[in-house]
Amino acid sequence: MFQIKARDGMGRMGKLEIKGKVIETPTIMPVIHPNPEKQLVPMEKVKKLADVVITNSYIIYSNPELRKIAEEEGVHKLIGFDKVVVTDSGSFQLSVYGDIDVEPLEIVEFQERIGVDVGTILDIPTPPYAEREVAERDMEETIRRGREALELKRSKNFSMLLNGTIQGSTYMDLRRRCAEIMGSMDFDIYPIGAVVPLLEKYHYKTLVDVIINSKMGLPTNKPVHLFGCGHPTLFALAVLLGCDLFDSAAYALYAKDDRYLTEYGTYYLEDLKDLKQFPCSCPVCSEYSPKEVYNMEKRERERLLAEHNLYVTFEEISRVKEAIREGALWELVELRCRCHPRLLEAYRQALKYVEFIEKFDPVTKKSGFFYGGYESLFRPEVIRHKERLHRIRYEKIFITTVSKDVEKPYSENLNIPPTDVDILVKDDVFGLIPLNIDLIYPLLQSEIPELYDVEKEHNKQFVKEFMERYRDKIMDIVTYNYYLSYYSSKKKKINRDVIRIDRMLQYQYGFKILDEEIMERIIVRRSKRTGWIRNVFLVEGDEKKLLFTLRSYDNFLIPTEEGAKLLHRKIPYPKYRVVVDRSVERFAREGRSVYAKFVVDCDRDLRPYEEVLVVNEDDELLGYGTTILNGRELMEFNYGVAVDMRKGIRG
Ligand code: GUN
Ligand code: ZN
Repeated sequence: MFQIKARDGMGRMGKLEIKGKVIETPTIMPVIHPNPEKQLVPMEKVKKLADVVITNSYIIYSNPELRKIAEEEGVHKLIGFDKVVVTDSGSFQLSVYGDIDVEPLEIVEFQERIGVDVGTILDIPTPPYAEREVAERDMEETIRRGREALELKRSKNFSMLLNGTIQGSTYMDLRRRCAEIMGSMDFDIYPIGAVVPLLEKYHYKTLVDVIINSKMGLPTNKPVHLFGCGHPTLFALAVLLGCDLFDSAAYALYAKDDRYLTEYGTYYLEDLKDLKQFPCSCPVCSEYSPKEVYNMEKRERERLLAEHNLYVTFEEISRVKEAIREGALWELVELRCRCHPRLLEAYRQALKYVEFIEKFDPVTKKSGFFYGGYESLFRPEVIRHKERLHRIRYEKIFITTVSKDVEKPYSENLNIPPTDVDILVKDDVFGLIPLNIDLIYPLLQSEIPELYDVEKEHNKQFVKEFMERYRDKIMDIVTYNYYLSYYSSKKKKINRDVIRIDRMLQYQYGFKILDEEIMERIIVRRSKRTGWIRNVFLVEGDEKKLLFTLRSYDNFLIPTEEGAKLLHRKIPYPKYRVVVDRSVERFAREGRSVYAKFVVDCDRDLRPYEEVLVVNEDDELLGYGTTILNGRELMEFNYGVAVDMRKGIRG
């Protein structure tokens, strides 16, 4: 029971319901030692930060005293935590010691018996770079155990949720296959397993391959847990790639090693001891100086370091969530990936999958596109723009450059002759920017520094190919000037604002919405305050009907009911549509949110946050709104809101 509330990249901010308790994702589960005496940070402190913790059922199972308490009073009482408790199964011990003393189904049953909220199958973690035969055999065994565990869960009506771990070592086809097979089996959460050795060796690039290939095979409607990843520097990137859950033993393990975590790297306490204060203001760091902590006895020092480590871990989770909410997750990732060259390498690797990622990346964001370096040229916002440039049906094109001292938007700051020629400005980042659409996100909502020459080279090939493709339509400067003078001599009135709206609609929806007849009757109003285009009206007799309003932060054209009806007439089925079941038609017409469960069909190419038409199976318009989900997710989710309705349309 997982639903998406906000998103950026492949990252999701979501709500996950576990046995009646709701947690917000992304989040991190502190690893808790099942023996309270061995727990470094007091449970009271953990409770303040965490809504979910993870502990190890195999340790409980193999220790008679812990086992007795767990069997009699439950795991929550044992560890002293009454919110969500997840348990691992002993797989990790299996990977370290090669052998453990419990049967796969026995440990699953045990987890249910002690009242665990989310249990884990006894999967087989194959180390990275293992022999392919080994990886394949282990994976098959993991899948077999997974199937048996699910059968047991079903036949005995278990109340706990079940983790179905993805294995396959560093064979990406195996990861994908494992994800597809496990993904078809109705686990509740999908951990990605056996990545700890990759983390320890800084093989983040391979980690990226493993995450993305697993994600490719997994259903979109289930949360994904990156097993064993607890270092805050990695959260932003892992969330960007679609990981929802993390677990951290790191906060305690690093503390035992006298290491101090930050979101950009780790320090030895030794190296910090001469600072007047810690570079952090958590309760621990506000209270003690580095020297004081350094001089404490081992146990106390460990405890304080672990506490600080836990604070910064949660702090980074909050930062990642905030970045998702404002649409600045890519920017946060670009920041974090400057913390270590291996992370930068990993980010670059992630961008090799941009075509896959782009399908999940919102078409609009609250915060602008900040150029963070050469890698930004490959981000989905850029790739999508270059793709969507072809949505406009150009008749005549003039390609030009604009002097550096002209500020954006060019369309408002340059003196442009009244013309129906599409003027495209070469742009080092976005390739080409048609002046008619240059208000739309991300073209206007971007901050780009002066680039190096090598960066400027990047788009030469793109522009060349574009010119090749449209060679019949492109005017050179002489024809362009001749056309302008000829045109003005004809004194035919051109309303450039109407042409701009026409092109913006084509760019946003991929179809021509305003035909010649309608174009004649369009009135574009500018804001009295800013002087910028704001409203689009259609004249009908003596009346003037509002069709669209430009949304202030991204200049997307937001339809009114009349606008939605026009879109519905002009855009062919199933494009820009979300089709809902008859049973909710009435609710949709009342303007209530559309739940994913009732979506029966849709435009599979939809991206998150697009403006969509909600229709019934006869393609009658029921309302319009913003889709939270992309085309694939609309079909796969059956829980939570799919479309945020703006308005319903009465039948
Ligand atoms: N903890 C870290 N890695 C793994 C893994 O691959 N499987 C399980 N079950 N737990 C883990
Ligand atoms: Zn601190």
